Amino acid sequence: MTRKFFVGGNWKMNGDKKSLGELIQTMNGAKVDPNVDVVCGAPTIYLDFARSKLDAKFGVAAQNCYKVAKGAFTGETSPAMIKDCGVEWVILGHSERRHVFGESDELIGQKTAHALESGLGVIACIGEKLDEREGGITEKVVFAQTKVIADNVKDWSKVVLAYEPVWAIGTGKTASPQQAQEVHHKLRDWLKTHVSEAVANSVRIIYGGSVTGGTCKELASQKDVDGFLVGGASLKPEIIEIINAKA
Ligand code: PGA
Repeated sequence: MTRKFFVGGNWKMNGDKKSLGELIQTMNGAKVDPNVDVVCGAPTIYLDFARSKLDAKFGVAAQNCYKVAKGAFTGETSPAMIKDCGVEWVILGHSERRHVFGESDELIGQKTAHALESGLGVIACIGEKLDEREGGITEKVVFAQTKVIADNVKDWSKVVLAYEPVWAIGTGKTASPQQAQEVHHKLRDWLKTHVSEAVANSVRIIYGGSVTGGTCKELASQKDVDGFLVGGASLKPEIIEIINAKA
């Protein structure tokens, strides 16, 4: 089973029309491997802008959404609104949503279910914190997070699972290729046991956490690493190198 390589850029709360416009121009003009799904996670306010400027071969993702279609939820954005802007994806469960904004597994599960029902693809993020890794409970943590997501997914063809160890995000401490492969392999095994062999074989499990042009190639060569979710480096021309990691 070949899984199409998937590279998501997570711009987080960065950039403005000028700098993002320049980045988009660089991406549109670059030579990118056609065998890679590329999706840019833009700030909500710039979703429309990003979608209208980015070449159609690149996808766009929101970085969050709410769990219902509409209503009195000041400041929130629904999957229906995201779709209305021509945007196809949403990142859910990112560690900053979990740990800075206190989102629970339950809420992330509800958002996942509603986003998928609304027709968005979901980049579902999981990952252990440093004390959890040091305490030897990495598997326990990521399996529990994956279970809540799995309980809310009917159609796995629209889901990409992003393993992002919290200690590697924005720290410059990339997980080693072996560390990433080990967790990805265990996640695939978990999916085999708890969902199905077909889903385990087809779902893309991507790695995130300080991925750079320098670290991407060896990570990408790991059997169960099907792509990346890239923060800092996704704001630089370096993202092209990461998209082409397998080329
Ligand atoms: P980073 O962020 O690449 O800057 O570590 C990754 C992420 O948060 O998705």
